[in-house]
Formats: sequence, C-alpha cells, structure tokens
Amino acid sequence: MPLRSVILGCGGCLPAQVLDNAALAARHGLDTSDEWIRERSGITRRHIAGPGETCTSLGAEAARRALAQAGATAAEVDMIVVATATPDNAFPSTAAHIQRELGMEGGFAFDVSAACTGFIYALSIADAMLRAGQARTALVIGAEVYSRIMDWTDRGTCVLFGDGAGAVFLRAEDRADERGILSTHLHADGRHADILYVEGTGGPLRMAGREVFKHAVTKLAAVVEEALAANGLTRAEVDWLVPHQANIRIIEAMGRKLGLPPERVVVTVDRHANTSAASVPLALAEAVEEGRIRPGDMVLLEAIGGGLTWGAALVRF
Ligand code: COA
Repeated sequence: MPLRSVILGCGGCLPAQVLDNAALAARHGLDTSDEWIRERSGITRRHIAGPGETCTSLGAEAARRALAQAGATAAEVDMIVVATATPDNAFPSTAAHIQRELGMEGGFAFDVSAACTGFIYALSIADAMLRAGQARTALVIGAEVYSRIMDWTDRGTCVLFGDGAGAVFLRAEDRADERGILSTHLHADGRHADILYVEGTGGPLRMAGREVFKHAVTKLAAVVEEALAANGLTRAEVDWLVPHQANIRIIEAMGRKLGLPPERVVVTVDRHANTSAASVPLALAEAVEEGRIRPGDMVLLEAIGGGLTWGAALVRF
C-alpha cells in the first residue's frame, strides 16, 4: 500500500466585519451597484479584516480549527506551509508567526507565493515532503488580507476580493481504504504576469479581468482533465468539485464541463468573494463542517491566479 497524505481536519476563519455590496460601494464612493456585482461575479458580500485581524491571526485560528477537527495538537505538527500573497511581514514568514501563535517549539515553517493558486501549490509541496518522509504531519494554510492591497478607487477589482483563511491538517498514512491525496498538478506561465499582479510588494493589485477570465476557463478545464487522466478516473467518479472562488460564472462553467449537478459544486464566492489562496481551503472547511463532503468522497480541487499559475489536486477524503 502506498504512503499517502491524508487530510484529517479542515478549518476556516473569516474576519468579523461583513460588508455587502451596497455598504462597500457607499464606504468607498464607488460608481457601481449591487446588481452589477451580483450579475458579473455572483458576489453579494465579503469579510474585511479589522485593525486587530492579520494574516497571522486569521491563519492561526483556521489552523486551530483544523487541528481540533482532526483531534490533533500543535505539538504533533512537523511542518507548516502557508500560501499567502499578503503576509504581515516580508520576513519572518507568516508560517513562522503562526508556529509561534500555536505555541510550537519544533518543526519547520515557510511561506509559498503562487497568488490564488497558492493553496494548491502548498498542498502539493506538503504532500511530496510527507511521502518522502521529511515530515510525518503538516498544516497547510491559505491566509489572505487582500483588503490591504486593494485600490479602493478601482471598481473593476476592489469589489471582487475579501479576507479570510483556511487550513488543513495532514498525516502521512498507509491505509487500506486508500484515503488521501491521489495527485497534484501544477502549472505556471510567466508570460502572462502582467494581466494580474501587485505593484511592488505592497500593492495595489492590478487586473485585466476579461483576459484573466478567458485564461481561467481554458486552463482550469485542461488541468482538471489532466488530473482525471493521471488517475484513470472518469468525470462520473468525482463526487465534489471545490473550485477557486473568483467568479460564479467560471465556477458554473467548470461544473458543467465536469457534468456535475450544481449541488456537487461547493460555492462560497457569493458570501466570501475571492479570498485568493484562502478560497479553496475555506470552501473545503465549510463543506466538511456541514457534513456535505464525507470520508470516502472523491474531491477535485482547482485554482488559477497571478503568475499566471494554476493547478489541481485529486483527494479521496
Ligand atoms: N461596477 C460597474 N461597472 C463596472 C464595474 C463595477 N464594479 N467594474 C467594471 N465595470 C465596467 C467596466 O468599466 C466596463 O465598462 P466599459 O464597457 O464602459 O469599459 C464594463 O463594466 C464591463 O467590463 P468587463 O470587464 O467587460 O466585465 P466582465 O463581464 O468581464 O466582468 C469581471 C468583469 C472582472 C467580473 C470579470 O472579467 C472577471 O470575473 N474576470 C476574472 C476575474 C478573476 O477571476 N480574477 C481572479 C483570478 S484569481
């Protein structure tokens, strides 16, 4: 039996403050409407970090919840990988800050930069290291405070993003039931760096939305096919799609391509907006918490983001 990285717990954390579309428009004096934002993106509201909420605090709380769901303690964690484009400091890494927040005295910790694909990248790295025996357990976290890198005068971007964090706890296990990560698939194409990027290191974020949209639909469809083919699986064998939460139109297009009924596609973009590297683990945590995704289910994760970067992972829960 192969050693696999098994997701034993998931957790999410959202800032306390919620802004609906009308409140956001009013706060920043934007020439937009609730109707435009809903129709073009599916977003109705988002959470925005308050003064006391940081990438570290949100990520640490998501990690605590993932550990609690797994019945594990921070002392058991060998490695922390944090995917973020909005760290609190250039260094130390957010992962090191979270390590301290969790009271850990051992293990290793580092951040990964792959924008909205960051969680898939971080999961892939952790999976490889767990199977190579460099660690026995891992916390993989996506944590973001995009509200700190927004241009609040740019209605084409600032209505689309939100803050939050999601985390999973994994352990390398040799199991008869074949639970665990089956494969991960990563891609990047730096030739498209200029259609979605952050100016310098502190922002603001810039995006050519229509261009990104076109790449998203084709590249996500291709990487999903790649993941299925690598495992000899058909679309019918996928129980759940947990997509990156950028735009409901992209999510629905992916669901249709997979032939999945809407109730088998996890959607949080309506309430969270795009939380970048946090979006997939937040959606996963919500679906597991609600008892929708259950042990044994075949789950397909996918994301695309700045780089461009994109990727997918197939996981038997
Ligand atoms: N309110 C009102 N009008 C807005 C607006 C807003 N918040 N934002 C943009 N507009 C305007 C534009 O200025 C444009 O006006 P124009 O035609 O006079 O120039 C018009 O709406 C249409 O813009 P367009 O970009 O064609 O809209 P769209 O249907 O492509 O939707 C996005 C825009 C951004 C929602 C869409 O392109 C998208 O979701 N892209 C992908 C984004 C994404 O996934 N990013 C993250 C990847 S990680």
